[in-house]
Amino acid sequence: MKEKASEEVRIAILGAGDRGSIYARFLSAQGASIVAIVDSDSVRARALQTNHAPEARLFSRWKDLLQNASSLGLDAVVIALPDQFHMEPAMEFSKREISVLLEKPVGLSVSELDRMQGHIKSMRKKENHALIMVCHVLRYSDFFGKIRTLIEHNRIGEVRSILHAENVSYFHFAHSYVRGNWGRSKQSSPVLLAKCSHDFDLIGWFAGSEFKSVQCSGELNTFLPEKAPAGATDRCLNGCPHSDCLFHAGSTYLDGLPLKRELARSRGWLSWMARISLRWPGLIRRLPYFRKLYPWPYWPTTTIVSGKVSQESVLVALKSGPYGRCVYTAGSDQPDHADTVIHFENGVTAIMRLNGNSYQEARTIRIEGSAGTLEGRFGQGGHLVLRLHGSSESEKIPVTVDQAGHLAEDRAISAEFLDQMRKLRTENRNTQQIVDWIQQADAILHQVMEGHRMALLAERSRATGRTIFR
Ligand SMILES: NC(=O)c1ccc[n+]([C@@H]2O[C@H](COP(=O)([O-])OP(=O)(O)OC[C@H]3O[C@@H](n4cnc5c(N)ncnc54)[C@H](O)[C@@H]3O)[C@@H](O)[C@H]2O)c1
Repeated sequence: MKEKASEEVRIAILGAGDRGSIYARFLSAQGASIVAIVDSDSVRARALQTNHAPEARLFSRWKDLLQNASSLGLDAVVIALPDQFHMEPAMEFSKREISVLLEKPVGLSVSELDRMQGHIKSMRKKENHALIMVCHVLRYSDFFGKIRTLIEHNRIGEVRSILHAENVSYFHFAHSYVRGNWGRSKQSSPVLLAKCSHDFDLIGWFAGSEFKSVQCSGELNTFLPEKAPAGATDRCLNGCPHSDCLFHAGSTYLDGLPLKRELARSRGWLSWMARISLRWPGLIRRLPYFRKLYPWPYWPTTTIVSGKVSQESVLVALKSGPYGRCVYTAGSDQPDHADTVIHFENGVTAIMRLNGNSYQEARTIRIEGSAGTLEGRFGQGGHLVLRLHGSSESEKIPVTVDQAGHLAEDRAISAEFLDQMRKLRTENRNTQQIVDWIQQADAILHQVMEGHRMALLAERSRATGRTIFR
């Protein structure tokens, strides 16, 4: 094993896809050494190696990495594999005192969550201080962080009820939960867990109590064969006559039309670029900068090809891969809308809406307290307003929200993880301070898994039509 500097943190990235690449980028920029990459797709693994980790060894299976963990001097792994490959590697690496930055979800069933709880207890009994931190990145956002602080500082009095909506834009829903990785819940995970575990987690964080019951209603109404326009073909590029379909694969992945429409509604230079290219589509192929926007070089097109985005690679993906399929006959079994009512032990009630038919990607929230109301939007910019019952004023709380996605939050969680890893490496591992600090981290992990439990029980309630008690 290479001699390592006391400050050096050696990390392996499991999954060189969208999420793994983001963490590799931030962690390497923040000073971590990315020493290994695991991906069954060697093109993706090599692309990540070239861009962010030139020294990394490549593995196609995480079990092979596990065997080489000590010779690589691994301190931590980032698990950004598909949902069904989270639990086992998280348990195996942490058993060997290798810390884990784990993409959500932790597990795919209530019994898996129980197993993880048992695993953590048993690790701590053995004085194993491996950290397991789940990527609920929204906890690191300025917006949701401020809500939590306002509640903690009693600005709205006691929390009474929460109305929270996760509005997923229609084309994002079609991309991820119809054509994409989560199109079939049994082969991946229910959308209420895959997409809304963040939201259940936030609601629990704000309610400040364990939940006692969930009751959910939701249906798949949009992406069904009977909703397909007459004459639609099984693939958009197989001569489908509906080139103006909202979900047309060519206009989504080659032209990036839905993204441009969404960006055009926001502010800043990207918004102007989007407006110009929507208004004068012909410009895209002629002016030098606009030419770079064809084929659309950003998400979601980046997720459908393994290597570089080019017209050829996108066309191959659309002609033979899952993203070229007609959304109406792709066979998704995920509800495109669902409302969950949650009852907490401390009397707080909440409604969590999954809306997969939104014009805009944004979360909205309204929290009623005994002394005031907090209301806000997070996504495509955002706002947060506090109104106190005894006042006629509205206080605008300044918040920073990315125009698209949550890169600032991804950067923040990477920095926090690295910071904690450095603490673990440099301080005396047996001091009471480290034990207390690991207990705090485990308490957060417990809360996060409560959010997962809520999501899984909400899905059970949706499927059975019953209220589910904890
Ligand atoms: N925290 C968040 O905000 C957030 C957002 C999106 C996705 N996620 C989660 O992140 C995880 C990864 O999602 P993604 O969007 O990066 O997916 P992705 O498909 O882009 O990446 C997954 C990678 O894993 C590789 N892979 C698949 N099976 C493998 C196996 N058995 N062994 C080795 N490699 C394998 C694939 O080739 C791919 O490169 C998912 O669990 C998802 O739920 C979290």
